[in-house]
Parts: sequence; structure tokens; C-alpha cells
Amino acid sequence: MRQVLEVHNLSARYGRVEVLWEVDLFVGSKEIVSLVGPNGAGKTSLLRALSGMASSSADVMSFRGKDLRGLSIEQIVDVGIAHVPEGRRLFPGLTVRDNLRLGGWRTHNQDVSRVVELFPKLGQRINQVCGTMSGGEQQMVAIGRGLMGEPDLIMIDELSMGLAPVVVEEIIDVLPDIAASGTSVLLVEQDVDAALTTAERAYVLETGRVVMSGQAGELLADPRIQQAYLGIG
Ligand SMILES: Nc1ncnc2c1ncn2[C@@H]1O[C@H](COP(=O)(O)OP(=O)(O)OP(=O)(O)O)[C@@H](O)[C@H]1O
Ligand SMILES: [Mg+2]
Repeated sequence: MRQVLEVHNLSARYGRVEVLWEVDLFVGSKEIVSLVGPNGAGKTSLLRALSGMASSSADVMSFRGKDLRGLSIEQIVDVGIAHVPEGRRLFPGLTVRDNLRLGGWRTHNQDVSRVVELFPKLGQRINQVCGTMSGGEQQMVAIGRGLMGEPDLIMIDELSMGLAPVVVEEIIDVLPDIAASGTSVLLVEQDVDAALTTAERAYVLETGRVVMSGQAGELLADPRIQQAYLGIG
């Protein structure tokens, strides 16, 4: 499989406080990869390091062969990495259409049809202001806004935060279509069962280190994962 994102020996810090150590990670073309782990493990920090929002160092941090080290947030967006942050951060007073169009601003893409195809609900609500939408609909807009830049990788932080399981499922069901259309997905998810069922591969992060990684199906069946994250055994 062709790799899009490749990371070797990444560490990250806030000021002097180190929060990630020796992280190795890759994401393949059209692949869905999940990142799971307890609160405070460093999942958000890893996404922030990859999108240039947290200070990091690495032996390799490259995207489609381009070195990401030292690039600004904007330059990383321009190489094709979208980041859907924890908490979604939409403009609540703007409509769905305008929130989506802001996502396509840098790439001059104002055509919302791909997003509406993936999330038909947004098509019905295209003129509604985002502040009045349900949490699930807002998450669809946040992901849609990320896709508007036509990225090769979309990183989604806490997809399920505050959402009912049925809504989470509805959104997660769209991820394979997103990946198949050429945008790989790096998913941070508290719902480990959902995360491992959807992904091809996964990484388990604990206190700033990757402690397990592999095929998602194998991790789902692993007794250590079942005990620590799924309440089984
Ligand atoms: N802006 C910051 N300044 C200083 N320390 C921070 C900052 N953001 C996060 N940290 C610390 O970095 C560590 C990793 O936090 P991070 O938010 O990356 O974890 P997480 O796995 O995303 O957790 P959660 O599941 O709660 O979202 C924690 O110890 C946290 O206190
Ligand atoms: Mg987090």
C-alpha cells in the first residue's frame, strides 16, 4: 500500500512539558486508521503536531513525500491535510453553505456537491444557520468543511463527542466512502468499539507513547484491548 503520511520517532511538547515520545505512525492511501487511548494520552496533541499546531520534532514527518517538519499550519493545509478539531469550531451564525465554503476558501473550491452527496441531510439544511443544528448535523458540517479543501488526509478528533450512538454510526458509516474517494482518514475516537470496527488499522496511545498497533480486527479481539477499553473479561 502506498503511504501518504509517514511519521518516525515524533515527540511533541507544550513549552517544556513533553507529551509525546517516539511515535511511529503511517497512514496509507485510501486507508482509515484509528487512534485510540484514554483521556490525556496525547491523541489531540498528535493531531495538533501533524497539523503544525503543536511544537514537535521527528526523524521523519512526511506527507506524500513532502517534509512537514517546520511547515506552518497554512502550509500543511496546502499539502492536503485537513484537521477537524475537537469541539468542531463552526461559525454558529453562518449557514451550512457558508461554513462549507469557508473550508474551500484556500483551494478556491466553492462547490458543495461532494459534501452534500456524502451527507444528504446537509443538502436539506444548506441555508440553516449552524448554531441551530443538532450535534450530529454540526459534526457533518465540520467534516464537510474539512473535505471542501479536497484533502488527501482528513484527521477527525473525537467524532462522537456528545452524540448519541445511532448518530455516531450514521457519520462513521460515511468514512469508507470518504476514504474510497481518495481522502484517507485518521480518526481519534473514544468509542473504541466503533473506532476499531470502522478502521483497517489502529494505534493505541497511552501516556504519550504508542503501546499497541496493528490490524483493527486483531486489536478488537485482543484481550488487553477488551479488558482496558471494552469492559470485557
Ligand atoms: N495547551 C496545552 N498546554 C499544556 N499541556 C497541554 C496542552 N494541551 C494538552 N496538554 C497536555 O498534554 C497531554 C495530552 O493531552 P491531549 O489533549 O493530547 O490528550 P487526549 O488523548 O486528546 O485526551 P482526551 O481524550 O481527553 O481528548 C495531557 O497531559 C494534557 O494535560
Ligand atoms: Mg483529545
